[in-house]
Amino acid sequence: MKSISILGVFVADLCFIGDKIPSKGQTILGKKHVVGPGGKGSNQAIAASRLNGEVSFITKVGKDSHSEMAFNLYKEAGVKTHSIIQDEKLFTGVAGIMIDKDGNNAISIVSGAAEHLVSEDIDNKIETIKNSEIFLTQMETPDEVTIYALKKAKEHKCITILNPAPARKIDEGNFKLIDFFTPNETEAEFYLNKKIKTVEDIKNAADEFLKKGIKNVIITLGEKGIYFSNGKENFFLEAYKLKQAVVDTTGAGDAFNGAFAVGLANDLDIKEALSFANKVAGISTTRLGAASSMPFAKEVTDN
Ligand code: RIB
Repeated sequence: MKSISILGVFVADLCFIGDKIPSKGQTILGKKHVVGPGGKGSNQAIAASRLNGEVSFITKVGKDSHSEMAFNLYKEAGVKTHSIIQDEKLFTGVAGIMIDKDGNNAISIVSGAAEHLVSEDIDNKIETIKNSEIFLTQMETPDEVTIYALKKAKEHKCITILNPAPARKIDEGNFKLIDFFTPNETEAEFYLNKKIKTVEDIKNAADEFLKKGIKNVIITLGEKGIYFSNGKENFFLEAYKLKQAVVDTTGAGDAFNGAFAVGLANDLDIKEALSFANKVAGISTTRLGAASSMPFAKEVTDN
């Protein structure tokens, strides 16, 4: 099995569950409040590790009760922590998450200590990237650090996956660093600066990303499944048919990305890796929380 390094953010998710997500200026009475582990990179590391991936996580946290929650979680899941920088002068980040009765969410994240990651930190932890064959990251860490790490991962011959969430500008010249690009529809719209509504729009969007130099494009479409294209092969895959109701979609994209990395690490072919990731993402939506909702390998087999 290939090993996976993940660069990203850990935060404590402060979740408020209610009938609806409050609108601007509105106060509503919530139903439930949960504090749990989150942060896209961290969620992806947990997802991959629970699926038996060999995972090292690169990030920066503070020395507080939130980082303690992170380390407990990594210990339990088997995520390697030697590339986690702990700085007691900084605070570990938090995210405020509003969840409605259908499992939809709205998120605001303050990355905290991880906002202070610098390229030098990547150099200091370069052995982690060097010793892995797959490198996965998102857009929650500072842009220059994300891009620098992608460059280093390419230099060290890793397969790179960029989950461009939250969508933030990427200089055109850097798209060539990406082997697998995994935007959802909204993120794809951001990067192409146009609406994506029809099947044709989705196919054209993937073609445009390929023209930018990305090798493989995976557009995730929520309950409509996913679209894959690498210019030679392209297909739609339906979303996994859930056996339980959706409770919370927070972290579903992270479940998808973490599981996809494990699929690649296990040398599954692309369709198999994507079906696996679809299933894992689907199962994660049937539970509350981000990292806490990531299924274990056995649950995926049994489901
Ligand atoms: O993708 C879900 C995650 O986004 C949450 O856990 C939240 O922390 C934000 O990073």
